[in-house]
Amino acid sequence: MNQQQTLTALFKNTFGHQPTHFFQAPGRVNLIGEHTDYNDGFVLPCAIDYQAMIAASPREDNKVVDTAHSYDGQVSEFELTLPITHSEEAFWSNYVRGVASVMLEKGHKLHGVNIAIIGNVPQGAGLSSSACLEVVTGLTLSRMAGLDISLKELALIGQKAENEFVGCNCGIMDQMVSACGKEGHAMLLDCRSLDTRLVSIPEGAAVVIINSNVKRGLVDSEYNTRRQQCEAAARHFGVKALRDVTVEQLEAERKNLDEMAYRRARHVITENNRTEEAAEALARGDLKTMGILMAESHASMKDDFEITVPAIDGIVEIVKSVIGEEGGVRMTGGGFGGCVVALIPETLTDTVKAAVESRYSEYAKNLNADIYVCRASQGASAL
Ligand code: GLA
Repeated sequence: MNQQQTLTALFKNTFGHQPTHFFQAPGRVNLIGEHTDYNDGFVLPCAIDYQAMIAASPREDNKVVDTAHSYDGQVSEFELTLPITHSEEAFWSNYVRGVASVMLEKGHKLHGVNIAIIGNVPQGAGLSSSACLEVVTGLTLSRMAGLDISLKELALIGQKAENEFVGCNCGIMDQMVSACGKEGHAMLLDCRSLDTRLVSIPEGAAVVIINSNVKRGLVDSEYNTRRQQCEAAARHFGVKALRDVTVEQLEAERKNLDEMAYRRARHVITENNRTEEAAEALARGDLKTMGILMAESHASMKDDFEITVPAIDGIVEIVKSVIGEEGGVRMTGGGFGGCVVALIPETLTDTVKAAVESRYSEYAKNLNADIYVCRASQGASAL
């Protein structure tokens, strides 16, 4: 059975009838531009061919009744006309509740629905399994209520749900690319204006994701600390966000900044520049320059932003030793584990896989890496 058939079976078992609608939203991988989104900067992610999918049918009452395949088909429900509270048992439902609650707060009139959820984005790997669930939920609730809310607005709703209901202070990258990604393309996103520019992934290049399987234990607290450090550095310069500081301004102020604030800011400011350059390089199919920029990005995350771990650095080294100058490799996502992304000639995919499989244990005992060769995919849609 494929994913949609498994979802249909779950829906029928739970609700006793066929679903009337299907929606999907993809996970994402970020090619470059890490921890820049909440600094009003630039990111260059693409949506991937792993996604969250929802089967739905309308209800006569004001309830949302939801079930999730990865939680053994447990069922949870809440009323759209009462204050929406967190569920202690139904972890997945908090994303549905968060999105519903933000939509109602914004004045959207929602209808009762039955919802079954399935997803194949690995959880806790930094590939945005939460963001795609938020986006597909927003799309489902809006379309089932006959509302034509734009994909960009659905991304903002998802981010607000994550920030205010789930409690992670993330930026806008994940939800925006899950909502608005385009097949075959990466998306240069200006996280201040939310303007996007699509850049096609060059013919013959493969996007390879290597999951270290190091669970991102520290991610929430360390993520929020990095964010505070960046905001403090922006205040030092009297600007809204580090996006507004140049390398020259940073260097001129170096003596007045403590060493850590300087390094955190240097990561963000140089990463913004690299990301804009990378979009240009990718657009002209220049994998060699992508390789240089991705290597600099990784070094900056390791030394200045201090968000990599030895297993991740190890995977990057292994891949680099195979691809040389023919492509790029770096950690992707929030950090402290999760995944590495490589943009390489398709012809090197098998060699990269074999090298990671045979050498990963030198860096991480008792762990195996999972390798996904991805297609840059379309953002959220009805099926
Ligand atoms: C997580 C967050 C994003 C972004 C990245 C780091 O994925 O959800 O908003 O900040 O980390 O680039």
